Amino acid sequence: MASEEQPDPNRRDFLGLVTGVVGAVGVAGACWPFISSMNPSKEVKSEATARVDLGSIPKGKTHTVEWQGKPVFVVHRTDEQIAEMAAKESQLDRQTDAARVQQPQWLVVVGICTHLGCVPNRTQEGWSCPCHGSVYDNSGRVVRGPAPKNLIVPHYEFAADNTLIIGEA
Ligand code: FES
Repeated sequence: MASEEQPDPNRRDFLGLVTGVVGAVGVAGACWPFISSMNPSKEVKSEATARVDLGSIPKGKTHTVEWQGKPVFVVHRTDEQIAEMAAKESQLDRQTDAARVQQPQWLVVVGICTHLGCVPNRTQEGWSCPCHGSVYDNSGRVVRGPAPKNLIVPHYEFAADNTLIIGEA
C-alpha cells in the first residue's frame, strides 16, 4: 500500500521565509555598488570645504581663501572693530553684527559684491567695490549702494585645532 506524504505547512513557510530573506540580501548586495557610486567622491567632498589655520592670521588682518571657486574673506577683527560693529546699525540690509558672526573676533564673508559680482577691495572701514562704488563695513554689511544686500556669510564652523572649516563636509 502506497502512502502519500502531505507536505508540512510549517516547513513550507520556513523555506519560503528563508528564500525571501536570501533573495532580499542578494538584491541589496547587487545594488550596493550602484547606490554607493552615487555618493560624492572624496575629491568632491574636499572641494566642498576649505580649511583655514586661524593661528596664521594676526589680529587686524584679513586672509582670503578660495572656496568653491569664490573668494572668502576671513577677518581677524580688532577689539575696536568688534565694539564699533556691535554698536552700529545697518541701514540698507538691516542685520545686527551678532547675527553675522559666531565669534566676534572672526568675520567670515564671501568676497563677492552683491550688486553685480565684483570682488571688493579691503579698506580700513571694511570694503569698497571697484566696479560701482558700493561700500561695506567691517561686518560685511552694505553701507552704500548700489549693492542691495550685505556680503553673504557662508556656512562655516570652528574645529577644535584652531581651524576654520568653510562649507559643509
Ligand atoms: S559690482 Fe560692486 S558695486 Fe556694482
